[in-house]
Amino acid sequence: MKKIVPFLLAGCIMLSMAACSGEASVAGGGGGGDKIGVSMPTQSLQRWNQDGSNMKTLLESAGYTVDLQYAGDNDIPTQVSQIENMISGGCKVLVIAAINDSSLTTVLEGAKSNNIPVIAYDRLIMNSDAVTYYATFDNWKVGSIQAQYIETALDLKNAAGPFNIEIFTGSPDDNNVNYFFGGAMEVLQPYIDEGKLVIQSGQTAKDQCTTQNWSTEESQKRMENLIASNNYSPSGTNLDAVLSSNDSVANGVTNALVAAGYTKDNFPILTGQDCDKPSVKNMIAGLQSMSVFKDTRTLAEQVVKMCDAILKGSEPEINDTETYDNGTGIIPSYLCDPVSGTVDNYKELLIDSGYYTEEDLQ
Ligand code: GAL
Repeated sequence: MKKIVPFLLAGCIMLSMAACSGEASVAGGGGGGDKIGVSMPTQSLQRWNQDGSNMKTLLESAGYTVDLQYAGDNDIPTQVSQIENMISGGCKVLVIAAINDSSLTTVLEGAKSNNIPVIAYDRLIMNSDAVTYYATFDNWKVGSIQAQYIETALDLKNAAGPFNIEIFTGSPDDNNVNYFFGGAMEVLQPYIDEGKLVIQSGQTAKDQCTTQNWSTEESQKRMENLIASNNYSPSGTNLDAVLSSNDSVANGVTNALVAAGYTKDNFPILTGQDCDKPSVKNMIAGLQSMSVFKDTRTLAEQVVKMCDAILKGSEPEINDTETYDNGTGIIPSYLCDPVSGTVDNYKELLIDSGYYTEEDLQ
């Protein structure tokens, strides 16, 4: 009999705006103790802790044994050796959220030669034909949602402008950045071309806007430099918006803007992603405008269903066979649906769904 995981079921029912696909159940108890390796990049960012613990809980309740490893703080050699150990330690499936999209090619040859399927978790692993499936959120849509928020908030379709904006994206070694940046720029570029949106710094190319390791310190430094070199301040050059691909990057931008004298009454529009607690608190305080909510419970549930299907010899559910080419061909993918989170809907999205408690956000 299938076992319903109660909090996921509650999440699916209450979180109708997020993507809970199909049944909210994972096969229970049938795993026969097979070991599954789960490799996560870092514990320094909230979401990966949630991803790891959701995966462990769900896999264990489906009857599997779990080898869950975090690679220090984004340490690539640590991730490689943890994966080596998972392969030699008898894991039957590997679930990997890569730190660097291109540094796992060699170690995964070992997975392939041992017939161990590999699921790329959230971030696509590039240049490896060992990658069997990919499960993530619709990353292009994440960027679109962020840019559409700015488009609406500045009323770009109707207002004359010009408006000043600066662009921040994430780690250059994370394949997701191509999609976050691409999805956002598809919306913003026409306004930049017509001069309605102006990037005073001239830093418009993706390579100029990246933030190594999605580091808050790095984005804070870059924002401080942009403030100094463009004279952005409440009494100087107006800064209308900052596009940030995620929350850890947005937090650095917020720190720099607050230090430059911006308050909730004149804060530039600022986007994010993940609905991490510090960012939701900033939204409530008026120091970040929005974040994209990607329910880590939903992603973990899909990946557990994938593992279960693979090990039981059936076809995992996939919903995209076109978008994600990792350099060795298209990787069959399951894309979950991201949704916009703001101060207006965070209670319904995050608290009513059980993702956070009221206390978490105080
Ligand atoms: C991305 C991920 C985001 C964010 C970021 C920083 O790959 O899709 O949700 O967490 O990494 O870790």
